Amino acid sequence: MNERDRNNAAEHPSCCRAREKTVSRRDFIDLFIKGGLLVTLAGMVLPALNYIWPVTRRGPGAGGLQEVGKLDDIPVWGFKKVTLAGSALILLRTPNEVKAFSAICTHLGCIVDWDGPKRQITCPCHAGVFDLNGRVVSGPPPKPLPEHAVKVIDGKIFVTV
Ligand code: FES
Repeated sequence: MNERDRNNAAEHPSCCRAREKTVSRRDFIDLFIKGGLLVTLAGMVLPALNYIWPVTRRGPGAGGLQEVGKLDDIPVWGFKKVTLAGSALILLRTPNEVKAFSAICTHLGCIVDWDGPKRQITCPCHAGVFDLNGRVVSGPPPKPLPEHAVKVIDGKIFVTV
């Protein structure tokens, strides 16, 4: 409030109080609109950034062998998904071995599935397809699924993370 306003307030107290309320309301509405625009902008920008930069969904690697279950839990040509040290993995059992891959699609980070009849790893998001070795067969994934070493000891499956 400047000198003139103070003088005005002394002479006409109701007039200036009303103007202070009007200014205050205007500031409030201005702040409300700017806040709303900021929230709307964040709601549009954050999903766009999430789309542009792939989701990694990887936790800190624990290192070493970790038990993930029994061999008998997975039928031949079956699969199992596990989370190990914050990383999503897909285990595949063939007649000769168990394989473990990151279950995070290398395109935009969706969780992959196992198509048993076709014996392929598929991504439900954009129809990415990987073979039994994690290599890209078709679709937009730019690189193979990272593979993890597997050991079967006394009927138990261990994976290196
Ligand atoms: S996220 Fe897997 S194909 Fe796009």
